[in-house]
Amino acid sequence: MRTAEIREKYLSFFEGKGHLRLPSFSLIPENDPSLLFTSAGMAPLKPYFLGAKPIFGGKEWRRITTCQECLRVGDIENVGRTSRHNTYFEMLGNFSFGDYFKKEAILWAWEFLTDHLKLDPARLWVTVYQDDDEAYAIWRDLVGVPEERIGRFGEDENYWPGGAITHGPNGPSGPCSEIFYDRGPAFGTPDETGPNTGSGDRFVEIWNLVFTQYDRQGPIPGPGILKPLPQKNIDTGMGLYRVAAILQDVEDFYRTDTFFPLIEQVALWSGKPYEGKASVSHRVIADHVRAVVAALADGVTFANTGRGYVIRRLLRRALRHGYLLGLKGPFLHRLAPVVAELLGDFYPEMRENLPMVEKQIRLEEERFLETLEGGLKRLDALLSGLKPGEVLPGQEAFRLYDTYGFPLDLTVEIAAEKGFGVDTEGFQQALEAQQERSRAAMAFEREIFKKGAQVLEELYAERGATEFLGYGALEAEGEVLALLAGDQSLGEAGPGTEVQVVLDKTPFYAEGGGQIGDFGLLEWPGGRARVETTQKTERGIFLHKARVEEGVLRVGERVRAVVDPGRRDTERHHTATHLLHAALRAVLGPHVRQAGSLVAPDRLRFDFTHPEPLTPEELERIELLVNRWVMADFPVTWRYMPLEEAKREGAMALFGEKYGEVVRVVRVEGSPLPGLESKELCGGTHVRRTGEIGAFLIQKEEAVSAGVRRIEAVAGEAAIRFARGILNRQRALAERLSVGESALEERLEKLLSELKAKEREVESLKARLVQAELRKEVALSEKGGLRYAVVEMPGLDGEALRQAADDLVERGADVALVLSEGRAVLKLSKKAKERGLEAGSLFRALTERAGGRGGGKGALAQGAGLDPATAKEALPGLLPVE
Ligand code: ALA
Repeated sequence: MRTAEIREKYLSFFEGKGHLRLPSFSLIPENDPSLLFTSAGMAPLKPYFLGAKPIFGGKEWRRITTCQECLRVGDIENVGRTSRHNTYFEMLGNFSFGDYFKKEAILWAWEFLTDHLKLDPARLWVTVYQDDDEAYAIWRDLVGVPEERIGRFGEDENYWPGGAITHGPNGPSGPCSEIFYDRGPAFGTPDETGPNTGSGDRFVEIWNLVFTQYDRQGPIPGPGILKPLPQKNIDTGMGLYRVAAILQDVEDFYRTDTFFPLIEQVALWSGKPYEGKASVSHRVIADHVRAVVAALADGVTFANTGRGYVIRRLLRRALRHGYLLGLKGPFLHRLAPVVAELLGDFYPEMRENLPMVEKQIRLEEERFLETLEGGLKRLDALLSGLKPGEVLPGQEAFRLYDTYGFPLDLTVEIAAEKGFGVDTEGFQQALEAQQERSRAAMAFEREIFKKGAQVLEELYAERGATEFLGYGALEAEGEVLALLAGDQSLGEAGPGTEVQVVLDKTPFYAEGGGQIGDFGLLEWPGGRARVETTQKTERGIFLHKARVEEGVLRVGERVRAVVDPGRRDTERHHTATHLLHAALRAVLGPHVRQAGSLVAPDRLRFDFTHPEPLTPEELERIELLVNRWVMADFPVTWRYMPLEEAKREGAMALFGEKYGEVVRVVRVEGSPLPGLESKELCGGTHVRRTGEIGAFLIQKEEAVSAGVRRIEAVAGEAAIRFARGILNRQRALAERLSVGESALEERLEKLLSELKAKEREVESLKARLVQAELRKEVALSEKGGLRYAVVEMPGLDGEALRQAADDLVERGADVALVLSEGRAVLKLSKKAKERGLEAGSLFRALTERAGGRGGGKGALAQGAGLDPATAKEALPGLLPVE
């Protein structure tokens, strides 16, 4: 049975049981910053386990089923070494949010496996949590599994997340029951007698049924407390590829239909069959390229931190294994279309974004191969310095790893080819020492964070978050709740003191969503403080970073908070950023995603995913589109709504951004193009109508990193100033060239061609000068029967210099030395050579006296850096006497 068929069967089976089928969520968790990648079917649904209402299509759904793409990257080094580990996989799941519970989950799982997939019931084994008698009884009495095939295990095996009671994480969790398939003794080891025993692959876990009924809370590591959830839930996860391997009757999932074509392709290109030790590399490549394509298709870009770093590591590891197979050029991008073909029916984004994905992979491959090249050279040099029997020091192997991304296995492999060993223990030590250093740095950061946070934590518990009044007002009254200086909490702050002021409410916008924090003044009777910027804590407490200028500021004081009117300019740039975002998508395509932004009073900067530079025409169209939007003067409105509803309405959300359940959606009520709209999840401040933006001009467009571009632009007065600046410069240039502005280009062209003509003239004059110089009689001197001449001339380069020396010899010199602007040529006649002179050694003898360097042999030598006067003087002394 093909993988696609299993997927479809599962989803329609659960649809038949009243579940809503949803497409896979993105690999990038949209509202869960605690997760790097979506790693289980339940992850995107977390809020519903905790009690949020699962509303989809305007209706409440308590049963959902999905096939979720997942990425687990905890164990990358093992992927490929075994045929059991992988990173990117698909999890089939059925979920109940306070609806059905254990009995239905178990009975349906059994029904699906035995009736629909036709698995032999005699080969199915199950496990339950140690004291879960209820689940045990369901399996034994309602399903009829014999007791010897039901196991009981502790929290490591039968609680989900595994071991969560003792080790965390916090959040929804519960006891679970797992279903195993017995592949027969041929797959196992003698000590493998049932699930969770031995070290073989005989008992394969295919489905995990989690009875999600607790919210695990408390310290990590624990022990935690298990707080019953308001509702009992079901979360199940079936490993699609494991089931496919069983149903396709192949050894492991690498041989199933969504992996094997990749392995075959690698075997074909490399000429190395999928067998023995080399098969590790085939597996690494097949697994990693799927993960990289899936992540890029979902909007991740290669980077040095976070998600981008993970996929960079995956790509590099795959490339290195390609290298081991003899694939020395970029090849992974050519596998991307194969991945899209294998998975694109179910994950359409892989097809839609394929051109961009291929391009990003190719650029990244090229970049890494260059580094690899450097590493190889260094390794070569190191190895050729070793004596037979020596090993490559661990420190060097580590340096290769650290600076060239050169993995130990590759170093070992290459060293072995040349007959050397590597001190792998030394490598491990160096690696651990480095990890120790970074752990220490991290612990330090946490420490600092905690101390500063304590005061604020207490404040939050007492008063809650700061109330923000700035969507409408630029001025408001507030009460000082706290004054912080470093880790200290002050009662009052006198003139000159730098403090962070916490107010109960404020019109100051706190830095966030790309918009800079507001600045302005705090005023109270007899005093004033200048706010330089405003930030906020995770809990939403606003910190006004201020300096007291006059009087004393005290906790409890009522102050007038006045935001600098420049904020209106920031708002112009913020709304303009939204319009730019929408226009980019309209002109370039829906693969454009925001990858960062800065909104300031005088400019905006917008980073977005796009694989290549924008053409001037594209930039012009985008700019014009935004300006039409501005001129049409549409209202800009905002309202709060549930996150789900906002997403359903297609509001643009940021990847990885943390959103609460209720979000603010900013929208522009109208657009210059049918189908074009601007609607974004955004907490920033905006103009009331697009007309306030005034004007919008793009200043520049450039690359930030592979696959990410940046636009810098200006709006409002900043745009006017920018345009005025250009016009002024143009006028000044025209004045300088004494022409009207409209004649500037013409004048420039003329100047350039005049300049060219002059250059040609100078060249030909120079040549004539040299000719004349050469035609001059040269006085030949004589020593020991050899005639010699030393001539100095300006403006000769290599060829002309040799020509001049030849000329002298033709005119009777036996030894000719021509010097010109630091360079020198020495030429000997036949006679001089017969007399035993040699140009190379004569020239070197000259440089010993006159400095410089150079050499040659026979009749000709040349060089540079000789002191002309000394050379002139020295030459006769170097000629033989008779
Ligand atoms: N969430 C459960 C798992 O990942 C089903 O195993």
